[in-house]
Amino acid sequence: MTTVPSNRTYAEQLDLADPLAKFRDRFVWPDDAPIYLDGNSLGPLPLATQARISEVVGSEWGIGLVRSWGRWVGLPRDVGDLIGEHLTGAAPGQVLVGDSTTVNLFKLVNAALDARPGRIALITDDDNFPTDRYVVEGVAAQRGCELRMIHTDLDHGLAEDALLAALGPEVALVSLSHVAYRSGALADMPRITSLVHDAGALVLWDLCHSAGAVPIRLDASGADLAVGCTYKYLNAGPGAPAFLYVREELQDRMRQPIWGWFSQNDQFAMGPGYDPVPGIERFATGTPQIIGTVAVAEGTKLLAEAGIERLREKGVALTSYLIHLADDWLEPYGFRLASPRADARRGNHVTLYHPDAWRISQALIAAGVIGDYRTPDRLRLGPAPITTRFTDVWDALDRLRQISARKSYEDLPAELSRVT
Ligand SMILES: Cc1ncc(COP(=O)(O)O)c(C=O)c1O
Repeated sequence: MTTVPSNRTYAEQLDLADPLAKFRDRFVWPDDAPIYLDGNSLGPLPLATQARISEVVGSEWGIGLVRSWGRWVGLPRDVGDLIGEHLTGAAPGQVLVGDSTTVNLFKLVNAALDARPGRIALITDDDNFPTDRYVVEGVAAQRGCELRMIHTDLDHGLAEDALLAALGPEVALVSLSHVAYRSGALADMPRITSLVHDAGALVLWDLCHSAGAVPIRLDASGADLAVGCTYKYLNAGPGAPAFLYVREELQDRMRQPIWGWFSQNDQFAMGPGYDPVPGIERFATGTPQIIGTVAVAEGTKLLAEAGIERLREKGVALTSYLIHLADDWLEPYGFRLASPRADARRGNHVTLYHPDAWRISQALIAAGVIGDYRTPDRLRLGPAPITTRFTDVWDALDRLRQISARKSYEDLPAELSRVT
């Protein structure tokens, strides 16, 4: 076993050897930029996006006005293809940008139930992201279906046994996260997809915490459906449109519940009844959000230039380094790793358990390090590979150990004022 030195010089050497180091300069940073370990919540602003948005607003909208629709209207599909090619392993015509992750979940859960007539059960897990659980719960209630909520360990992620026990001939759809939002546990997409298929059900993957950080092979893994957001690792900005994936062979057999005019055949004929187009665009709803979609394109192009395999390699190096320092420095202060230790089972964030995680997360922000708190007692640190330096990880963990040694967080109020 190789020993990793815990001194800062080692982190500096890793930065010097980092082939992706130059990408940090392609983003907007304030002069007094904090150490940002929250790119898995809201990614920073790429310079190219700033420039492109001002062009779209100033020229395409400001001057071109309605004449610009000709160049805008194909964007949801074109940018979806870009995501498919560079980030999610999907051949063209299967990914569409638009709406929010929540709305896309609603559309696809309903479409999946219709595609499996006679099957009346839905499965999700109790550590899935809240919006995923609520949408599945809501659709089950609206349609009189059975909801099977399987238990997932907060630190280790999905248990195959629990899934197998819940599967059966009544199940239409299994809805899961590829990377767990709290622990960062990375699910084995090909294996779980094939277990679900063996039971005759469809599977819907939430890619919010893996898209842009972990290579995803939707086509190769046989996945049926997926959704994901773009404001995390894709750096497309707050509220930027999400994306959805529907495997090609399922598309024309599926129909989504929002019958909007952007999925209508011969849309501008303004015809009397709904008749959806074939292909991925039948999952569109209303007028696409152009400024946000342009930001998705720029963010995706930047990740494509860095290369998803290299981003993953750096992400693993950053998170395993973070775990090494946490083991070395923080265990004596009551921290424990609350993410999978094996690199292959972890996404791009690391979660640390501490009974005082809330106050520590606040003290850390005051010390110039932005991470995240997650209920009930977890600190989540996400070193996005395109922008994070190894010295950022070293400095953040060093400040964390100082806060813990001095117990300076004990001066902060214990109550949780929920702003995030
Ligand atoms: C796994 C996961 N799914 C869904 C969402 C949010 O969905 P929406 O963009 O619709 O708010 C998040 C947000 O953090 C998430 O982490």
